[in-house]
Amino acid sequence: MKQIKIVGNKTLKGEIKISGAKNSAVALIPAAILSDQVIIENVPNISDVNALDDILNYLGAEIYKEEDKLTINAKKVNNKPITEEFSNMLRASYYFMGALLARFKKAEMYFPGGCKIGARPIDIHLMGFEKLGAKIENEGNKYTITANKLIGTEIDLPFPSVGATINILMAATKAEGVTIIKNAAMEPEIGNLVDLLIDMGAKIEGKDTNTLTITGVKKLSGGKVKVIPDRIEAGTYILAGVMNGDNLVISNMEPNHLGSLLGILEQIGANITVGKNQVIASRSLNLKPIDIVTDVYPGFPTDLQQPITSLLIMANGISHIKETIYENRFQNVKYLDEMGADIEINGDTITINGPSKLIGKVVTTSDLRAGAALILAALSAEGETTIKEVKYVLRGYGNIVKKLTNVGAEICLEDV
Ligand code: UD1
Repeated sequence: MKQIKIVGNKTLKGEIKISGAKNSAVALIPAAILSDQVIIENVPNISDVNALDDILNYLGAEIYKEEDKLTINAKKVNNKPITEEFSNMLRASYYFMGALLARFKKAEMYFPGGCKIGARPIDIHLMGFEKLGAKIENEGNKYTITANKLIGTEIDLPFPSVGATINILMAATKAEGVTIIKNAAMEPEIGNLVDLLIDMGAKIEGKDTNTLTITGVKKLSGGKVKVIPDRIEAGTYILAGVMNGDNLVISNMEPNHLGSLLGILEQIGANITVGKNQVIASRSLNLKPIDIVTDVYPGFPTDLQQPITSLLIMANGISHIKETIYENRFQNVKYLDEMGADIEINGDTITINGPSKLIGKVVTTSDLRAGAALILAALSAEGETTIKEVKYVLRGYGNIVKKLTNVGAEICLEDV
């Protein structure tokens, strides 16, 4: 088991460079199946990327890695069923459904893995494939999706699901005729995928809007793309700066993708300076409490709900955070309580009565962003915190120990 130990209360000073976005990279890599060769730059060093590379290798793709650049040659890919073990490795394994369906008109795999933060059904993805003309067979956890041909149509999503938008988009690139995805998710990572698909020769209109119009093409050629900066990684380190920084510079980021977080930080009186591609954050005293409701983009991201909970423990008064996207994204709360926070959950809402001084404890993380939240809490706590099961954190935060050590944190990763 991997665990992280942190001695808290150290001042964070210097610069943290943000890596490529996890949620982009995990869609761009499976999209390589759609053509012969794809080059992806600024790929983050995270275990979810390694898992996708393993699945691509298993399918017969050749992958060349040069620092943060991936060249994927998918010419020789065979359409084998993706095993339950591979499907379970991560949530984004389900992007092979859309990609294999587009290329081979058949995809066989199991229900995807990922953090246990709610039921996370895939009904909207499957509804989209069916609308395009595919047949779905489901036996236990196994899904076999087949189509004689995919035919473009109008698909109105009942909820703007990120994963369903991406999966349907990939499948539609090679469908006959025009597909219109209405109520599509607008997360910037989808725009990043649209850029790659257009570079490969796909015909897509409506990038970054809630209506995507895709005119199917017979063949896609090679393409190249740079992964956009990870807005959630950036948001997490900005929060670290507001909690413990002394002019901590979070660079290589896109502040426009974090409008909701930055607006809230300004409202509560956090000491931040927003630049073109960076944010400078310093320890902020006398923070005001606030009420936050998570929402789809451009609303407050559910992926920062757990991290900002740790900050609001420092605010003077009662804050509420309502989680509207996932029903079980509160697994950090119990440990924050043990560390000294005055915090409770009522239904879908967390109430935090601040300020409280946190004390280092032994805690366990059960999902990626709960882990990030506990790391933030540990960085500002008195004494030493041990965070167990950090494999979840390593799925989404590349080089986190090095990045934090470089700015003055006392943090180490142990294999026990
Ligand atoms: C993606 C992100 C994740 C982020 C989430 C919301 C990736 C790999 N992961 O996850 O980090 O937290 O967006 O911004 O990009 N839903 C259904 N049926 C479906 C699909 C989704 O009911 O077929 C529900 C989910 O259970 C959830 C909500 O819709 O309650 C949002 O899910 P979705 O946007 O699909 O998130 P993911 O793509 O899984």
